[in-house]
Amino acid sequence: MSNADFERILETSDEWIVSRTGMRERRYASDAQASSDLATHAADHALKRAGLRAEDIDCFIVATVTPDYQFPATACIVAANLGAVGKPAFDIEIACSGFIYGLPMAASFVRSGIFRRVMIVGVETLSRIMNFNDRGTSILFGDGAGATIVERTSAGADCFLDCELGADGSNPELLFVKSGGSRHPMTTAALAAGEDKVQMSGREIFKYAVNTMVGTAKLVLARSGLTTNDVNWIIPHQANLRIIEAAAKRLHVPRKKIVVNIENYGNTSSASIPIALSETIERGVLHEGDVILFTGFGGGLSWGSVAWRWSY
Ligand code: UT7
Repeated sequence: MSNADFERILETSDEWIVSRTGMRERRYASDAQASSDLATHAADHALKRAGLRAEDIDCFIVATVTPDYQFPATACIVAANLGAVGKPAFDIEIACSGFIYGLPMAASFVRSGIFRRVMIVGVETLSRIMNFNDRGTSILFGDGAGATIVERTSAGADCFLDCELGADGSNPELLFVKSGGSRHPMTTAALAAGEDKVQMSGREIFKYAVNTMVGTAKLVLARSGLTTNDVNWIIPHQANLRIIEAAAKRLHVPRKKIVVNIENYGNTSSASIPIALSETIERGVLHEGDVILFTGFGGGLSWGSVAWRWSY
């Protein structure tokens, strides 16, 4: 879905979208595809790249706000699709911070010895919950999936360096889907009012985003005994190019260290960081021992940063 496609259905322009967000295209799942289908595809790709089979994975975590069903967990369906029936599988729902929260969770399982290998997939079919009459939200979001496998390294070195996570639920309506939950069950009137779709106060979230990303990134680096000079890659949540650039400026990190793919996918919520990580691997620029800083924020509000030393 290109900016030109939006120009045809909304009062907007390519110039406005590019200058305010950095986005040019987003990808949408076909009508036949649900989140578990995109997640299964990404999971399969990750397994092949790692030279593993589904039965080698001890636990499946899916981060999503667009599950196949309200319940059961999409992770159960993904594991079954992969042929891993019987393995533990569960979802986490913390909006765009899903992968940032899931990564330390996976690392903790591996560190503690509870599981040897944990797969974490970030997936969204946000096109299903967009209000295409609202130019303030519909142009921003896309569909996608990214999968990672966290395992104990052969050398036994600890690759998970540190994390700082946070949340403030005092204003959930800053970014939410109003109806369909226990507070406002779905009604015909709610449907007619578009309350099954995303609503957002973009400007407020913008300010929050930069402050929380920068604040948590600084804390995580300081506690890991690192400075931004030691960081090889920053992989931020892809919500808005201006947010990413403002955070990079305040962290004094050169642009070439920051992974940005927002122009191709828009904001894919919990999928944005694992997709960007996957593309960084494909570019062949991620080397053994590189330090990666993952940082993000989203609905909740929620936010966090994770420092990671890369090892294959
Ligand atoms: O993963 C977390 C999810 N959320 C976010 O990351 C959102 C963070 N916020 C943002 O990225 C930005 O606030 C937006 C991109 C959503 C909006 O950019 P902005 O520079 O904050 O614009 P604004 O909301 O202050 O709106 C400025 C103007 C308004 O018109 P008026 O009131 O000044 O006449 C909007 O109605 O731009 C208008 N506008 C648009 N115009 C053309 C809003 N959306 C559009 C649009 N095309 N698509």
